[in-house]
Amino acid sequence: MDRKAGGRPAASPRADVRLSILIAVTDANTPELGDVQMHAVRPKEPVIGRVVASEPCLNGRSASFVRHVAIDVSGTPLAGSFRAGQAFGVIAPGEDSRGKPHAVRLYSLACPSKGEDGEGNVVSTTVKRVIDEYTPQKGDEDDSAHHLFLGVCSNYLCDLRIGDEVLVTGPAGKRFLLPADPSLHDYLFIATGTGIAPFYGMVRELLQGPGGPCQSRIELVMGTPYTTDLIYDEFFDALAAEFPNFNYHRVISRSDIRREYVDRYIERNMDDGFREHLSDSRTIIYMCGLEGMESGLYRVLARNGLTEGYMDIRDPMKLEDHENWDTKDMKRSVKAGPRCMVEVY
Ligand code: A2P
Repeated sequence: MDRKAGGRPAASPRADVRLSILIAVTDANTPELGDVQMHAVRPKEPVIGRVVASEPCLNGRSASFVRHVAIDVSGTPLAGSFRAGQAFGVIAPGEDSRGKPHAVRLYSLACPSKGEDGEGNVVSTTVKRVIDEYTPQKGDEDDSAHHLFLGVCSNYLCDLRIGDEVLVTGPAGKRFLLPADPSLHDYLFIATGTGIAPFYGMVRELLQGPGGPCQSRIELVMGTPYTTDLIYDEFFDALAAEFPNFNYHRVISRSDIRREYVDRYIERNMDDGFREHLSDSRTIIYMCGLEGMESGLYRVLARNGLTEGYMDIRDPMKLEDHENWDTKDMKRSVKAGPRCMVEVY
C-alpha cells in the first residue's frame, strides 16, 4: 500500500527515540501497544536496500498490476527496528516536474515484525502500479491534457528486479500496531485494495509467529472491485481452512451477483457473527484502505449501537445524525476510539 508521506505523523526530532505507547486509559480493554521505534533511518539520510523478491500477487486476469516486493535491509538501522503495521519509505531516483529530487513515499509493511526472513532483515510491501489518464491539476495547465499518467514510485518499485538497489527510510507510524500481548484481544481487520498489506503481515504474525498460533478470534474482511483483484487470496483461503479461529471474507463491489462495500457486508452479516464479535470488548477493529470506508463503517457501528470503544464522538449531537455523516464530519467530530486503528488515504 502506498501511503502519502504528507498524511503520516511528523518525524520525531530524534532518530533513535523509542516511544512507549499506552493509549489513554478510557477502557479496561484499551490495547497496550508496547514499544515502537520511529525513524531509525530518516528521510534525509536514506540507506540502501536490495530487492530480494518481486512477485505478482493477484490471482488471475485483472486489469491491475499488484506486486509483493521484498527488500533486504540487513546491516542498516532499519533492520530489526520495525513492527507489523508500520510503514517504510522509498525514494525513487531522479527529479520531479519542478526539478527537485523525488520525495520519500511511504509504503505499508506487508511483513510480520520479524520480517520476511524471520530475523528482521527483509521488509516487504504490496505495490499497485498507478496507471491512469492525466488530469490537469492547476489553473495554468492545459484543460484538454489527458495523456497516460504513470505513478512514479509505484512503477519504479514494481519495475525493480532482484538484486537492484533501492533507497529506503523508516520505520514510520506508531499506532497501527498489534497489541503487545495479542492473546488479550480479538480482531476485525477490514481492508480495501492494497490496504490488505499490513494485514498480510499481522495475520501471519498472529497465526504463524514463533510463539505458536494465537487462539484469538480473527476476522478479515477484504473489499475489491472484482474477484480477480483479490490480493494474497489463495494464502488467506488456505489459512482459513487451517485455523478455525480465522475467517476470511471476500467483498466484491462490481460483481454481477451482489455489489457490496465492506461496511455493508459487515452490516448484512451482523447476525451471522459480526454483532457478537463487535460487542465483545476484547475486539479491536483495524481498517486500512480508501478514506470513504471509515465513515461507512462508523455509520454501521452507530446504526447498530456498537460505538463503545470504537468511536470517540466529540459532538454528541452528531450521533443522532449518523446517517448523514460524511468525511468532513469524521475529521471534525468523530474520531477513532481506543479499540479502533485506522489507516485510510
Ligand atoms: P468501487 O471501486 O467498485 O466503487 P481497489 O483499491 O483495488 O480499487 O479496491 C478498492 C475497493 O474499495 C473497491 O472495491 C471499491 O469499490 C471499494 N470502495 C470504494 N469506495 C468505498 C467506500 N467508501 N467504502 C468501502 N469500499 C469502497
